[in-house]
Amino acid sequence: MARIVKRDRSSPYPVTIGAETKYICGCGLSKNQPFCDGTHKIAKDEPAAKLCWYDADNVCHAMEDAFPAMPLPAA
Ligand code: FES
Repeated sequence: MARIVKRDRSSPYPVTIGAETKYICGCGLSKNQPFCDGTHKIAKDEPAAKLCWYDADNVCHAMEDAFPAMPLPAA
């Protein structure tokens, strides 16, 4: 089953345990889940009110009208 999960964060969550800091993916785009692999950089300039999905080549496809009930942040 496929799922659509809304993520509007475009940076990782730093988690420090003892002397070691790990970066947990907050954008959902990492290919090394749950860890950040730097892919979030492709989403950093997205407008807040834009809804898109990313294909295997990390190309954003706009789909603002596909889920009208999904709330988006104001632009
Ligand atoms: S936060 Fe997702 S790849 Fe970095």
